[in-house]
Amino acid sequence: MDKKTIKDIDLKGKKVFVRCDFNVPMDEERNITDNTRIVAALPTINYLLENDCAIILCSHLGRPKGEFKPEYSLKPVAKELSKLLGKEVIMAEDVIGEDAKNKAKNLQQGQILLLENVRFQKEETENDAEFAKQLASMAEIYVNDAFGSSHRAHSSTAGIAEYLPAVSGFLIEKELKFLGNAINNPERPFVAILGGAKVSDKIGVIDNLLEKVDTLIIGGGMAYTFFKAQGYEVGKSICELDKLDLAKELMKKAEEKGVKLILPIDVKIGKGENLEGESKTVKYTDIPEDWEGLDIGEETIKLYAEELKKAKTVVWNGPLGLFEVAQFAVGTNEIAKALADIDATVIIGGGDSAAAIKKAGLEDKMTHISTGGGASLEFLEGKALPGIECLMNK
Ligand code: 3PG
Repeated sequence: MDKKTIKDIDLKGKKVFVRCDFNVPMDEERNITDNTRIVAALPTINYLLENDCAIILCSHLGRPKGEFKPEYSLKPVAKELSKLLGKEVIMAEDVIGEDAKNKAKNLQQGQILLLENVRFQKEETENDAEFAKQLASMAEIYVNDAFGSSHRAHSSTAGIAEYLPAVSGFLIEKELKFLGNAINNPERPFVAILGGAKVSDKIGVIDNLLEKVDTLIIGGGMAYTFFKAQGYEVGKSICELDKLDLAKELMKKAEEKGVKLILPIDVKIGKGENLEGESKTVKYTDIPEDWEGLDIGEETIKLYAEELKKAKTVVWNGPLGLFEVAQFAVGTNEIAKALADIDATVIIGGGDSAAAIKKAGLEDKMTHISTGGGASLEFLEGKALPGIECLMNK
């Protein structure tokens, strides 16, 4: 990585502002249902503790749109973090208000303070310079370890770096190492599997990956736009009619680049109005008018699994069917299992695919599961991430 990390700077005994991504899922009682992102921040926090830093942590949670909303408070995160560290985590009542400022000012070496949800201030998402300056005024060094938010140019993820020496934490370093190596220096054959509902969400990724991979496997709702572009009827399946030319162009690009593009050969279809109801598997060319394609079929699972066996590097982003509904989660789950069995570097690009891997209990079998959904997608698109661009060069 060409950006400085916490290892490249003298932070002994300093007051350090650390942006984390503690945007974790919670149930209705506000219990954290997956603490992965909090656990992922521990190496950086522990390193700062070993170096006698006073640590000010900052994160967003959800999208409270610039207003204080108790259901978006970071208090449950402070509790969980304190449990994981076996150490008190002081919670501020606000972000840059009197309470936060006083607590930050009086924070001693070896103590940890968590600011309230930074998106309780509308200035955060506006990347307001004055707000960034106020955040910066609490500390001497800025550490960004919020990989999952690094695609956002907000005050706490990018703007603040104008006012403090800015370096990355260990999580960002690790994410860039795994995602970067897979994309730029893959052991071949390099296979990418892309799922998700819409082609329009994945155009950039498909386009960029066609420059890099040997094989591109497409599943999920997006496949139906490709079928339609080939002249087949897709019934009630999700299909972006305004993206048919684009799908054709992408298929042409794959051919020109010598990339093997694999689409489903059979699909599991259901009747949209009752997702738990009747379903059947048909050839991709035979989707009846009133039916909707909601998963890949068994022949497709076999085809994809065979292809994955040949791979040495795999990147997966996006579910292959409507995996929230049990009967249409089979394709996604079977591909997760196939990935667990192969002898290859397997990188899971965050979001829903990471959730599917966790649900199947297969986390330990993957080389790396990204903590970033949107961020890893933008990375795979080849875009510069503002939260990383803003850090000091080595
Ligand atoms: C995520 O969950 O992907 C990140 O925390 C970013 O959240 P956002 O999409 O609300 O910016």
